[in-house]
Amino acid sequence: MPMLDSSPLIDAFGRVHTNLRVSVTDRCNIRCFYCMPHENVQFKPRADLLSFEEMVRFVRIVAALGVNKVRLTGGEPLVRADIEKLVAQLAAVRGIDDIAMTTNGILLEEHAQKLKDAGLRRLNISLDAMSEATFQRIARREGLQRVLYGIAAAQRAGFEKIRLNAVAIKGITEAEIVPLGRFAREHDLELRFIEFMPLDAENQWQSDQVLNGETIRTLLEAEFGLLTPKDRLDPSQPAMDYAFADGVGSVGFINPVSQPFCSDCNRLRITAEGQVRNCLFSTVEWDARALLRGGASDEAIAHLVRDCVKHKKPGHGIDSPEFIKPERAMYQIGG
Ligand code: 5AD
Ligand code: SF4
Repeated sequence: MPMLDSSPLIDAFGRVHTNLRVSVTDRCNIRCFYCMPHENVQFKPRADLLSFEEMVRFVRIVAALGVNKVRLTGGEPLVRADIEKLVAQLAAVRGIDDIAMTTNGILLEEHAQKLKDAGLRRLNISLDAMSEATFQRIARREGLQRVLYGIAAAQRAGFEKIRLNAVAIKGITEAEIVPLGRFAREHDLELRFIEFMPLDAENQWQSDQVLNGETIRTLLEAEFGLLTPKDRLDPSQPAMDYAFADGVGSVGFINPVSQPFCSDCNRLRITAEGQVRNCLFSTVEWDARALLRGGASDEAIAHLVRDCVKHKKPGHGIDSPEFIKPERAMYQIGG
């Protein structure tokens, strides 16, 4: 048997890939306009999605190549049945020392404790608005109250870290910035604002809809006083984090559009259908599912991943005239 080449996943620009995002479904129970179509969503047939067994095998293979962090995404990961079982299986993979999830929080109240018990360490919960009207304008469904109950349940379950992710959209969420800041401070949660990226299913994104991190920081400082930058401990962390003047709570900014952080990216993605991507904005995919279902060896799958990493571009180029929006929207990629 040939030995698996276990050298790290380094791309042509020296970036070492240690972080895998696994989308577990393209389904979702709300319809955020920056991600999904409004109606008649064509979800993939169940048989097209990877099974837990296939996902775990893939993770085992990339863990041997140096991946040590896994984040489960969707769609909405909590709509996939028995997701806790997947968490438990991934927690048992040698080399994986951090498992996290990004969720919209709607189903979190009933899942939080089970996820914690299965070995999930960190949670990112999406919360773009503190008012029901704005929540519905974005999500095109009801649900804010359930998200808030979900956050409370997650805090009771005792996760290592819970973060709130807020996508900021010009003309829609300005009035939510300060209430979100207040909520995060009152509940001792880390809050992060994310700039709206061109990954919406309806192709409506315009650069003038980006409410940039600097503008948000100014709005927060007017209410809470000066924000002080925190040390950046991990350069692959896309957020710039700040402390509030009184030391209560913290806030970060993920500015993929106004301040791209591609040069420190260490992420690799696999879609719910088993397509490996080297970037959110990839226009090319590597078909791991065909190998997983075609009797391929671990070596062949590792080779596919290496090839994907080798072809990673230096950056997304959103601001370039040659930028091509990927065919997949956010819910079909995994955030
Ligand atoms: N731009 C920025 N963030 C987005 N998200 C989904 N679509 C977009 C977009 N077009 C966020 C979600 C969630 C995470 C998965 O990505 O709100 O926090
Ligand atoms: Fe669902 Fe998340 Fe997409 Fe919103 S952003 S529609 S919660 S998958």
